[in-house]
Parts: sequence; C-alpha cells; structure tokens
Amino acid sequence: MEKINTTRQQTLRDSETLSPWQKGSFTLNATTDKITGETVYDALVVGGGITGLTTALLLQKQGKQTILAEARTIGFGTTGGTSAHLNTFFDATYADVESDFSEADAKLLANCGKEAFSMIRDLSQDHNIACDLEIKDGYLYAETDEEVKILDDILTASQKAGIEVFEADDNGVKVPFKKSIVFKKQGQFHPLKYIYGLAKAFIEAGGVLLEDTFIRETSFADGVHLAKGDSVTIKAKNLVYATHLPPGINVFDFNCAPYRSYVIGVKLKNEADYPDCLSYDSKEPYHYFRGHTVDGQKYLLVGGEDHKTGHEDPDAAFDTLEKYIRNYYDVDEVAFKWSSQYYVPTDQLPFIGQMPMGDDNLYMATGYNGNGMMFGTIAGKMISDAILGKENEYADLFNPSRIKPVAGFMDFVKENADVAYRFVADRISAESINSLKDLESDTGTIVKYEGEKLAVYKDADGKITALNPTCTHAGCIVCFNHAEKSWDCPCHGGRFDIDGKVLTGPPRMDLQKVDIE
Ligand code: FES
Repeated sequence: MEKINTTRQQTLRDSETLSPWQKGSFTLNATTDKITGETVYDALVVGGGITGLTTALLLQKQGKQTILAEARTIGFGTTGGTSAHLNTFFDATYADVESDFSEADAKLLANCGKEAFSMIRDLSQDHNIACDLEIKDGYLYAETDEEVKILDDILTASQKAGIEVFEADDNGVKVPFKKSIVFKKQGQFHPLKYIYGLAKAFIEAGGVLLEDTFIRETSFADGVHLAKGDSVTIKAKNLVYATHLPPGINVFDFNCAPYRSYVIGVKLKNEADYPDCLSYDSKEPYHYFRGHTVDGQKYLLVGGEDHKTGHEDPDAAFDTLEKYIRNYYDVDEVAFKWSSQYYVPTDQLPFIGQMPMGDDNLYMATGYNGNGMMFGTIAGKMISDAILGKENEYADLFNPSRIKPVAGFMDFVKENADVAYRFVADRISAESINSLKDLESDTGTIVKYEGEKLAVYKDADGKITALNPTCTHAGCIVCFNHAEKSWDCPCHGGRFDIDGKVLTGPPRMDLQKVDIE
C-alpha cells in the first residue's frame, strides 16, 4: 500500500484556540491508496486520539491487521487539547471509590494508574518517542477547613489503596494553603509528540492509518462490521469506537455529561516562579498547574473553570481564569488560551469494553473525566486484550454494562433533568429579528428570521453563514461558543464549526446549511 509522507508545521484541533502542543513539526506516513472494501481487517479503530492509537498499536504488534480511521487529523480531538497531566490519582478520589465501590476496587484503580503510567513510559522507550516525558511530584492542597477534612480522607484512602502519598509542607505554587499532600512519581508529557510516535510505530508495524476519513455509518452481518465513510468502505471483524461517546443514541448519552475545561499558558516575569511539579487545589471545579518548555521557552499552564458544554459563557471562563492567575503570579505575557472537552461519568469511573446491547465485537471507551491520558492508555490495553481473547483485571470495574444505582445516582438524575429541560426550553426560545444586518459582526446567535429558526454567524467582513440549528444527533438546539467559534450542543456535547461541519461527536452528520438572501 502506498504511503505519503506528511509533515505538518501546526496540527489541527477541534477548536479555534491554539494549544502549545500544536506548535512544532509532525511527520506521518499516512496511507493514500484507496481501501477497496475487499479486505476484512481484524480490527477497525475509529478515532485517532490516545485511546485509538494505543489500541491500534497494541493490536498490530500482536499480529492483528488493524486499520485506524480518523475523521480529521490525529490528535484533532481532546488529545490535542489536554493539559497532559499523568497521575496515579484521579478525579474519582480513592475515598470516593472506596465508599461507592469497595476497598478492593480502590486498590484496583491504584494499580490501573500505575500500569497506565508504566505503559506510557515503556511505549515511549520501546519506540524512541521523544515526548518530553518527565517525572514530577504532584501536590493536592486545601485552602479551607472543610477542604482539609476532605484532603485527610483522600490521604488515608490513597495510602490504603497503595499509592505513595504523604503530608507536605509545600504545594509547589504561589497559592496560600492550609494543608497539602504530595503524590510521588507523577508525570507530564507532550501529548501530540507522544501520539505521533504511536502513529509512526503503528504504521511501521504494518497498520493502516487513514486521516480525513469520517465513518458516517456502520452495520454488522455474518460476523463482519461494515463501516462507511464519505469515500471509503471498510470491513473488520472487530470495531472500536475511540471517539469518547459512541455514535447514535445510546445509554452513554445519559450516563456521561460533556464538560469543557479551560487552560491558559503564560510567560512569567520571574524565572523562579515556574513550578517544578504538578499542583491541584480542592475547589469544585478545581484549578490545576504545571510548567512546560516548548521550543526552549518555559510556560506556566493553569487550568480550570470547567462547565457543562453549551451551558455557560466560554469567554467569561477564560477571563475568570486569567484573573485568577494574575492574582498569584507576575505575568509577562499570555501566550496560549485554549479549551477542550471531556466526559464526566455518573458514577465517576470510565466505561471501557464491549458496547452494551451492541453488535458482537463492538468496543467503546468513554467517561474518562479529567484523566484522559491515563484512562485512554489503559483503554488501549483493555480493548486490545478483549480482542486478543486475554483476560484483563480492570474489565469488571470499568464494564460499560455495570449498573451503579448508588454511586452518582443523584447526579445521574440531575444531569438528565438538565438535558431534558434544555431540550424543551431551547426549542421554544429564539430572538426574532427583522433584518440580518442587525446582527453583530464576528459572532453567532440563534434567531427567528422569516418564521424559521436559524443558527447564524456573521464574520468580521459581514459575510453571513446560516445553518439549521437542530443538532443532527438527537435534535437539541445548538448554541454559539464565541471563544472557539463553534456551535456547541448542550445535550451531549456535539460540536460543529461555523460551516456546520462536525467537530466533536456524537453527531455523525453536519448541520444543514440554509440559503438566505
Ligand atoms: Fe445529542 Fe446534540 S449532541 S442532541
């Protein structure tokens, strides 16, 4: 099969804002030959982020002929916008897992974190991936008495689970604190350097990587999955959705809520202020800190201000986060501002494995919370093990078919009530306008114009693009994200660019363009 050598100076992402990972040169030998549809691959992996590439590489190395289809370019989704912390503690704390699941499950989760970390280290060593992988201390700190109590519980439960964590007299950053604990042997890396390395290794092992290949529909018959893109048909015995939410309407539309998180990268006036650690406060949502050097320049990266996709103002989130940073640091320059999407599962643990009520040999992975690099890596191991017929010790804990009516049950009810409310409310509210000339430049809005509801965007030159605002997934009404110049769906996090093209699933079809005078 013919390969083309593609070098990108800057990779693409599902958002207008740039993450620091997008700078730099990335080379890939992608396939150019048309896939004939005759070959039956052992596995088709849909999605070219850390989950998809880890799964594809592990399968290909074990002799399973694997093809990976990415709708845009690899790292286009959340992997290109992560803040790339590698932790052995998670958004689901060991204290939570011990009380909602069991003490044994908390220990299992601790093993999972250690194994994911070792996998990233080993894969980067085995395949000579220079991905700026560094081992750091990770501080978690409390600023109030109430937070101190929670931190004490986390410390006790984490130690019980087998994690190396101690009380500390520092928190690594310039935020005053009452109590701090330090998790040893945490890490950070450059996520795009890492996954481009995985992609290169996958291709060298004989895997087929297709970019710009959006799988629009799939079917299953006689033990073979048939996947259709705009110009390609692929047959495979196993199908893996490494796309966060799997497409179509399914139980994960109700079990996982989409959130956006915001990160700002700043240059500091004082060299000594750059942290040599990872650090996290105990707020809800929490702030996270780390440093990274890109092209010889140090940056302080600070994240937070998370909210449900399509439910709050992204510009306001960036403003609040920038004020927060300036409150503690002498900022020389704001170099990067970007946001990215993740999915919060109702019982706090991810869903990884065979798709419930799905076709045979159909796998999915979602609900990583803010720990996508770790869970994406372990998902690669779990799904490749399942396809290879190997047992995996985390299969039950992360089983997508599990029912946990206790843990997260109230959140489950609230999330779904919220989505249902939004679904109904948005279907009846829209500002009526008489003339499209009245619209503000460089912004988008939902309007009622000549009796029709439209999603209209007017660019800086006055050019107007009008779309049908009904999300092609389940019919909610999209809303405009000014910071990312995208139309975001408040129901399940589907996102579209200003021309209506899908940026983020679960929708598989673009928003319909509407011709207006
Ligand atoms: Fe489900 Fe839009 S993402 S309705």
